[in-house]
Amino acid sequence: MARVSLSRYLIEQQREHGRIDADLRLLIEVVARACKRIAIAIGKGELGGVLGSAGSENVQGEVQKKLDVLSNEILLEANEWGGHLAAMASEEMDHPHPIPNRFPKGEYLLVFDPLDGSSNIDVNVSVGTIFSVLRCPEGTVDPTEEAFLQPGSKQVAAGYAVYGPTTLLALTLGDGVAIFTLDREQGSFVLTSENLSIPADASEFAINMSNQRHWEAPMQRYVADLLAGAEGPRGKNFNMRWVASMVADVHRILTRGGVFIYPIDARIAKQGGKLRLLYEANPMAFIVEQAGGAATTGTERILDLQPTSLHQRVPVVLGAKNEVAKVAEYYREA
Ligand code: AHG
Ligand code: MN
Ligand code: MN
Repeated sequence: MARVSLSRYLIEQQREHGRIDADLRLLIEVVARACKRIAIAIGKGELGGVLGSAGSENVQGEVQKKLDVLSNEILLEANEWGGHLAAMASEEMDHPHPIPNRFPKGEYLLVFDPLDGSSNIDVNVSVGTIFSVLRCPEGTVDPTEEAFLQPGSKQVAAGYAVYGPTTLLALTLGDGVAIFTLDREQGSFVLTSENLSIPADASEFAINMSNQRHWEAPMQRYVADLLAGAEGPRGKNFNMRWVASMVADVHRILTRGGVFIYPIDARIAKQGGKLRLLYEANPMAFIVEQAGGAATTGTERILDLQPTSLHQRVPVVLGAKNEVAKVAEYYREA
């Protein structure tokens, strides 16, 4: 079988299925190219001088790592000149980034978490990039924050790169999920699986257990029942994994199933949760739903949420459909 590169895949999506236009194709190609640059920078590690703190904080008060800043710059620079975007927004920038006037503007909005899993950079554990594509609302010439405040169900594409033992790219254009693996010799992403499907039932969960005492009552009850295993009300054993890079945890779920949870807890209740709706929850929810899974806050479908601010945070439960429904059941009963 002939190898299908990301470029060929996108051209065929455009030509044969009419699913994307030339601008969206260019956008995805440019993002993928930026991810390759980020992968190269990460791969150099200590030798590239890219590890450690940048000595600054982002709008959310988190200490920025050098790679957070570098990845953000790579994505901005790559996406400014192509004419496919109206504006960009990033976890690492207070405000939306306009397309400089010297470049033409397009009709898409690009939103990203340039480097996900920052706490894993310095310990050589998988990190990634998450992105989401929206259409710029009609008649909006210079998009401000408002233009980005669209429910996740409006996304036209979403994806993530994982920089792990292999670098790969997961992509949805709204018709299933495809995975591309980076061929480092050729420098191109090659299609390695299509139509991914998350089994409806889970036997593995991902949650940061150290926060247990701060969770809400329904989450306490739900996880206690998982931990009770075959002897408990669920009547079966569950395994646990927590990489602490959402990209890696979600990728595992896309590959072998399970459920991923970052619940709200007493310490982060005021900020709404830990994970960001626009940069993390929405794109991952879109991907997971496109693979037959589900995504909720516990009480609402994530893709239905109307964002109220750019850096809004939400509780996240996503993955195996039946397991996500189970969590929602615990919340309803509470
Ligand atoms: P980021 O590095 O973009 O700030 O995101 C980190 C997120 C997510 O990737 C991960 O699931 C979670 O934070 C890990 O949180 P804990 O360190 O609390 O486990
Ligand atoms: Mn992140
Ligand atoms: Mn990040």
